[in-house]
Amino acid sequence: MSIEYRHIKDSEFDALASLETVAFYGRSNPEDGKYLRKVTKPEWTLAAFDEGKPVASVRSIPSARLMHGTQTPFALISPVTCQAAYRRQGHVAELLRQSLELMKERGQPISGLYTPHDALYRRYGWERAEEKRRLNFDPAQLAFRTAAPPGKTRPATQDDWKTLDAIYRERVDPLNGALVREEDWWRLAVMADWTDKERRARDIVVWANESGEDRGYVVYQNRPTGKRATDGWAQQEIWVRDFVALDAGAYRGLWQHVLTHDLASNVVYESHPDDPFVDLCEDPFVVTVNRGEGPMIRIADVEGAIASRPYVGGSSASFTMRISDGNAPWNEGVWRVEAGEGGMRAQKTDAAPDVEMSVNFLAPLYTGLRTAETLAAVGMITVHRAEALTEITNAFAVADPPYTQDYY
Ligand SMILES: CC(C)(COP(=O)(O)OP(=O)(O)OC[C@H]1O[C@@H](n2cnc3c(N)ncnc32)[C@H](O)[C@@H]1OP(=O)(O)O)[C@@H](O)C(=O)NCCC(=O)NCCS
Repeated sequence: MSIEYRHIKDSEFDALASLETVAFYGRSNPEDGKYLRKVTKPEWTLAAFDEGKPVASVRSIPSARLMHGTQTPFALISPVTCQAAYRRQGHVAELLRQSLELMKERGQPISGLYTPHDALYRRYGWERAEEKRRLNFDPAQLAFRTAAPPGKTRPATQDDWKTLDAIYRERVDPLNGALVREEDWWRLAVMADWTDKERRARDIVVWANESGEDRGYVVYQNRPTGKRATDGWAQQEIWVRDFVALDAGAYRGLWQHVLTHDLASNVVYESHPDDPFVDLCEDPFVVTVNRGEGPMIRIADVEGAIASRPYVGGSSASFTMRISDGNAPWNEGVWRVEAGEGGMRAQKTDAAPDVEMSVNFLAPLYTGLRTAETLAAVGMITVHRAEALTEITNAFAVADPPYTQDYY
């Protein structure tokens, strides 16, 4: 069997759509190929072909990740598939390795993906590097400690994406980890349910204050839980897909709107780790808080990733680090990292390393999920010069924990 690895061609979208649907236990539909052709480009998808048929695929969607006012080109990996008969033969591994080469060529120094298969992607350098908190509550049981402010909600549609984007960017630009959303992303991934066969729009509501200024929005959808309540009614829950409030009025006003959905027995929201929602509730125990999963992040190009990273530490820092990376040889070696008011940069050096780590653990350091001391304390960083840890933590300081409200 000779397998060819290459980008798909325009004529191969139908076969690709069928592969992707079946890999996720769906039923292939002739419309899926047309949809895929409309919303993706052939050069985004690398596939493995056996006798001309795609049997495994990895798509890298070009995007950009925001961090404290800067944008870093970002390869968003979704989906990854392999036909059952071809699994555990290394085809996805090869496609992931080739995707890393493409990211380097395309100037996308970081990449992210959502997965339940940590052990698979960890082998190729992706690592958990962002977190969320999953909140669940019964809207009928929840009361807030503060009064709802004057202001109004109004329904919006996909055509209002620019209104939402202005609110979104005002909120997320200074923060850490949100994606830049182009029109297609708003329409297809945020405002519509892409898993629905008809790709129906979600509910969208904008909140304006008494002066008529738009200060926040929420995008949500109801979904059946598959269970019945004791009175026999089919249970529904509300999933909050996207929630942005620019001030306290919008925050309370929008949650008040969500609470009016009293047919739902549950509301699910994956919040920023520092969202004080629970503290605002009369009874905090009405809200169940679980860990939510953020994406795994991959530093695809150490030099490019560090050059585009903003520096928000207290004092300038300089240290050397040995990076091991079995899948992206351009990252291997000892790097001198300088960080200060002028920004950050990394250059290869012959100097001895202050610390050593696999490229995996550079990801939570880079995003600010973990400090150098935390990683060193559990052996994820090997330390040769103890004072370097303070410098590394300072260089990779963040002003806000890494978090995105996007799923991919
Ligand atoms: C997950 C999936 C893409 C893996 O494809 P695959 O072709 O089996 O992957 P490979 O053969 O290239 O595996 C590469 C390595 O990862 C390991 N691996 C593969 N799937 C794994 C998993 N789910 N969990 C842990 N390790 C996994 C393999 O054993 C292999 O390791 P090795 O080199 O040490 O032997 C495939 O099983 C699939 O399509 N599943 C259904 C759809 C899906 O879950 N997609 C991914 C969503 S994020």
